[in-house]
Order: sequence, then structure tokens, then C-alpha cells
Amino acid sequence: MIETIVQLDALRARVSGWKREGLRVGFVPTMGNLHAGHYSLVMLARRSADRVVSSVFVNPTQFGPNEDYTRYPRTPEADTSGLEGAGCDVLWLPTVESMYPFGIELAARINVPGVSSVLEGAHRPGHFDGVCTVVTRLFNQVQPDVAAFGKKDYQQLAVIRQMVQDLAMPVAIVGGSIVRESDGLAMSSRNQYLSPQQRPVAAQTRRTLLAMRTAVAEGLPRCQVESEAAQLLAAAGFKVDYAAVRRPDLSEPAEGEAGPKVALVAASLGTTRLIDNLEF
Ligand code: PAF
Repeated sequence: MIETIVQLDALRARVSGWKREGLRVGFVPTMGNLHAGHYSLVMLARRSADRVVSSVFVNPTQFGPNEDYTRYPRTPEADTSGLEGAGCDVLWLPTVESMYPFGIELAARINVPGVSSVLEGAHRPGHFDGVCTVVTRLFNQVQPDVAAFGKKDYQQLAVIRQMVQDLAMPVAIVGGSIVRESDGLAMSSRNQYLSPQQRPVAAQTRRTLLAMRTAVAEGLPRCQVESEAAQLLAAAGFKVDYAAVRRPDLSEPAEGEAGPKVALVAASLGTTRLIDNLEF
């Protein structure tokens, strides 16, 4: 039976009890409105931990002024039963007031330079500062041994890994594979904003990533791969933020460089912004 905890003292007592018993604690931070992608992270955390805590907290500091903070879907009952089904032991539900006791303006902030400012960071200024600011707090609250993050937010995972290494946080980070719908669309809480007309078009993000991988394998120059990908998305009706080929650390590869790569796209259909990526 999952236990829902809303007070930090109670969370600390539960986690320190587990640690006294020598149990390893896994953690899956979320913003709720959970789907199979989140539940796969709970199962992933479970593989390297004896107990799993998941948090649901819609974090105001990572939303831009024109983003969907207030209308972000909140589905607490479904989240609780889904987490229980996935094997989560504790649901941690902090409030905005307890997360930011001095208020948002006076909150101590974490900035990870470099990797935070490209791609998503360039299009959503301050977004990763908000993510790092809340994840640091969540790590301090939960004190996990291992934390799982989805690879769908590829750049978020890279930023978190750098933050953890740079600040010597005693948490192992594991990345969970992207979970997709049958037509290839990456699962996301934002997919439900898509209209019935937009929904089949949304899977063009995945098809574009596959085309980018093929074009790189065929030796097309990176600029051409990126501009053709942007054209594919635009032709399907997207407003494109970026289509990019990067090294795994998100730096720009030299022309013709061998080695692992990741293709990333971010594009909006109407007011719904989608991101996806493909490692190859
Ligand atoms: O990936 C998310 O859902 C959020 O960015 C996270 C990591 C829970 C921080 O609010």
C-alpha cells in the first residue's frame, strides 16, 4: 500500500528508518499527470533500490511567464493509484510554500552554466535553473541513493548529471528509456492538449528523428540534416524551435565526426510544444 506524505518531518522519519535498516532509497521526481513513461521510471528505480519515493510537485520556477503552469494537468487520484501499481512506496507531496519557504523571489537558485543555455535553454530562458533549483531541494528532502529521470527530457538529464557531479551530490542518476505510443509519439503529459486533428500529425516528430539518423548515416552535412528536418516538421504544420544533431553531451560535433550522436527536436503544434530525441 502506498503511503502519501505531506510533511517533511514525516518524510525524513520514513527515509531515515529505511536507511537505519540498511535499505537503499530510490527516487522519481515528477510533476504529476503520470503515464507509462513515469511508471517505467519507478520500476527502473526499484531495480537499484529497496524502497522508492516519488514526488508530485508542479514546480512554478521552471515555467516561463507564458507557459502552462496554471493549466498544467493535475490528476492526484489517478497518480496515486498508478504509482502504487508501479511499486512506489511513498508519494511525497510538497506544497509551493514548503518548497519555497522564503517565497519564489527570494529562493536560492541553482544555475548549471553551459549545458543549460543551449537548445531548450535558449528557447526557455531560466527553465533549467528552475529544474535544478527544485531537484536540489527534492534531493535534500528525500535524500535518495539513486534517482531516475526520463531520457525524453534528454537535456534535463544532462543538466542534472552535471549538477550532481559538480556539487558532489551523493545521488546516482539513472536515465530511463523513452516510452512511446504505438505510432511512435513519445509519451508526455502535454500530448493531451493535442486536438484529434493534431494528434496523428504529432508523430511526425519521431519520423523526423528517424530521417535525421538516416541522413547522418548517409553522410549529409549536419547543417543540411538539421535544415531538412526543420522543413519536414514545418511542412507538417509545426512551428519549429530546433532540429539539431549533437554529441551526447550536447556540444556540436565537427563535420563528419564519428561517434555517438543524439538528434533532438522541439516544435509546436498550435499551442502544444513537443520535444523528442533519438540517440544513435
Ligand atoms: O521532468 C519533470 O517532470 C520535472 O522537470 C522535474 C524533474 C520533476 C522537476 O520539476
